[in-house]
Order: sequence, then structure tokens, then C-alpha cells
Amino acid sequence: MTQSFTPEQFRQVLGQYPTGVVVVTAVIPGESPAALTIGSFSSVSLEPPLVAFYPSIGSKTWPKIQAQGRFCVNILGADHEALCRVFASKAADKFDGVTWHPSPGGSPIVDGAVAWIDCEVDDVQTLGDHFLVVGRVNALETASRDLPLLFFRGGYGRFLHSSLAASESALAGFLPVVEAVRAELESVADECGTECNLAAHTRDEFIVLAGAGSQASPQAGAPTRVGRRLPYLAPIGTTLAAWGDNSDVKRWAASIDSESGDGPSQWHDVLSLVRRRGYVIGRGEMPYAAMEEAIDNRRSELADPTLLGALSEVRKTMLDQPSLDTPDEAYDVRSLSVPIFLADGRVVQMGLYGLQTVMSNETVRFCIQRLLEASRRCTALLGGSLPDDFPRPIEPDASDR
Ligand SMILES: Cc1cc2nc3c(=O)[nH]c(=O)nc-3n(C[C@H](O)[C@H](O)[C@H](O)COP(=O)(O)O)c2cc1C
Repeated sequence: MTQSFTPEQFRQVLGQYPTGVVVVTAVIPGESPAALTIGSFSSVSLEPPLVAFYPSIGSKTWPKIQAQGRFCVNILGADHEALCRVFASKAADKFDGVTWHPSPGGSPIVDGAVAWIDCEVDDVQTLGDHFLVVGRVNALETASRDLPLLFFRGGYGRFLHSSLAASESALAGFLPVVEAVRAELESVADECGTECNLAAHTRDEFIVLAGAGSQASPQAGAPTRVGRRLPYLAPIGTTLAAWGDNSDVKRWAASIDSESGDGPSQWHDVLSLVRRRGYVIGRGEMPYAAMEEAIDNRRSELADPTLLGALSEVRKTMLDQPSLDTPDEAYDVRSLSVPIFLADGRVVQMGLYGLQTVMSNETVRFCIQRLLEASRRCTALLGGSLPDDFPRPIEPDASDR
């Protein structure tokens, strides 16, 4: 059968298929290392562990790598567009200015790569104008929590959870916020040793915009909470409600459990305490475990009855904010959050989630201080301003209650 398309059509149609971007590297004795950008990478087999990619027959770099018999595949992060371009160039020294460290097999792991896969050459076949290279995997690791770089229709991009993309009109304004605070989110997660999330609300929903730290990391194997959507009802998003506008807060507080008797007036006291202190504490292993289970098992609707029941238990812990005035006391803290004030007056919240069952007073205070510092830093970074009465980052004491 004769071919019914032009090379341009071939490229254009195949360009509809998005790929990740890797850099295949090797150390070359007596020269600087060799590397080339590859979009045609894929996993092949688990037993034995094999991966593959297709370098062009015209590549000057591939024969050098092949001669070493080993290589390292570096998965590039979403911010690595410039690196991707350098490694796709014909530059004599593609590693000029690039920092790296050796893989177990000695090949370069580019600093900041999302993950690396250390291989030896298992098989090379010629297929048309490309080689098929099969690599046998000897070692591999996820190295960072960054999102990977994607290549699609000739342009670069990044992965966006469909749940975020779905309500893009409501959330679009928050995406630059995520970018701006990502580094701070990661340091807070590292320093406090747990997951740190950024969340915002729309009229009816509380949405986790970004996450860093253990649960959110790919190493943990647990599904990320990024993209999670919950009803914006008390106690979800207490930090947002504390600095939210009045009509929103009425709806938020009047909602969850009409039989509980609490409503705007009871929440009024909690929200003003939160405004004085600058943070919210959520406690109790059981209520949080039940809430997580209800979220995992809920049917599609946002306000699933089991979830509302579980939220009502979490609510009780929020209504009773501990004073932190007894130094040798321990707390079963599950969440801690602070507001970040945006230039346009909106508020997002940064929060630690999944903390230890028993936290000493000192650890809780450390995490609160770190979060308050992050709140100031991110607010300044985003051109927002803290309310005049927003607490300085000092130790909370009994007089706060
Ligand atoms: C996003 C992207 C994906 C690429 N994927 C491949 C690929 O799968 N195979 C390939 O041979 N070249 C691919 N290239 C082009 C090579 O990186 C480039 O031709 C090569 O680095 C040229 O240098 P060399 O002659 O030193 O090998 C890709 C380039 C980019 C920007």
C-alpha cells in the first residue's frame, strides 16, 4: 500500500501524543560527559527490568554512550526546559554549567532531576532511521517531588490534576500562587517532617492546590491529596473562614450539623481566637482517620452523608483549640494551618497535615512558628499584606484564650 501522508503530517499527528522528557547521560573517559534529550523513553518489562528509547541514527552522542555500555536516564522536572534545550543541542560540552553527581553505575545524575534510572545497554536494534535501545535497569530512584516536564505539540508544559483543571476558571488565578510558594511549601514540609498543603476555596468547595512532604511525595506511594475537593463547610477551611468575607462565613458555619447546635455564633468565638493567634489546630486521631476513610469511600457527591458525619467529629476538635500554655503537655495534633494573604484580598491556607499522634508542646510551637514565618514570607512574596492585628511570630500563651 502506498503511503498517504507527508512527513509533516506524520510529525504533526504523532505530536498529538504527549511525552515526558528524559536526558540520557554517560561519562566518557577523557572528555566531558555525553548526554542527549529523549522523548521516546518508556518502560518495557519488570521481569527482567527493562526500559527503552529511540535515538536517531544521526545522533553524534548516542554512539559515545553506547561505547560505554551503560547510561543513566534522568527524568526532567517541569522547570527544566532550559536544560532540555541544552541537551537537545549539538553543543560541544552540554554539561557546561550543569551540576551533577554520579549514579551507582557512575553515569551523571543531573541535579534536580525528578527521578533517575541507571542502566546497562542490553540490546540495540536498527529500526528505520532510529535505533531501538533496550536498557537493563540496575538501580533507580525518585529524587525530588517536582512535577515532570511534558512535551506536547512542539511545546513544553506540566501536569495539572484534572480536578484542578476542571474548575480552572475558579482556580486559574491560584496557579501562579502555587508556583510562587512551592519552595516555601517544601521547606516547611521538610523542617516539620510532614505533609504541607496549600488550599483555597471557591464558593462551595475547599480544594487542595499543591502539596509537598511525605504523603504528597511519590516515594510514599500514597495517592497525593493535591486536587482533593471537599465541601467548604465548617470545619473544613477554618483558616480561610477566619479571614473570609462575612456572607461566606455565614454559609460555611451554618451548614454542617444542624442538630449540633453550633452555628455562626459558636464559630464566631473560634474564628476570632484564630484571628488573634494566626493559626488553627486540628486534633484527634480518630476523627481524622474517620474523615480520611469517608473521603476515600465517598460517592461522587461532594457533601456525602458519611463524610458530613465524619466532619462533624472533626468539628468538635476545632471548636476546642488548645491553649499551649503547659510546656510539658503533649497533643494529638493532626493539622495546623495558617493563612496567606494575596494582593487582591483573597486568602489561601498553608497547612501541615498528618502530624504525629503525640506531639510535645515544644514541637507544636516549633511547627506553628515555622508556619507563621511561612505565612509572612509568602504573603510578602505575593504582594499581599497582613492584617494589622496579625500576630507577630512569638510564642502563643495563655492570654490568647
Ligand atoms: C523534547 C525532545 C525530545 C527528543 N526526543 C528525541 C528522541 O526520542 N530521539 C532522538 O533521537 N532525538 C530526540 N530529540 C532530539 C535530540 O535531543 C537531539 O537531536 C540530540 O541531542 C542532538 O545531539 P547529538 O547529535 O549530540 O545527539 C529530542 C529533542 C527534544 C527537545
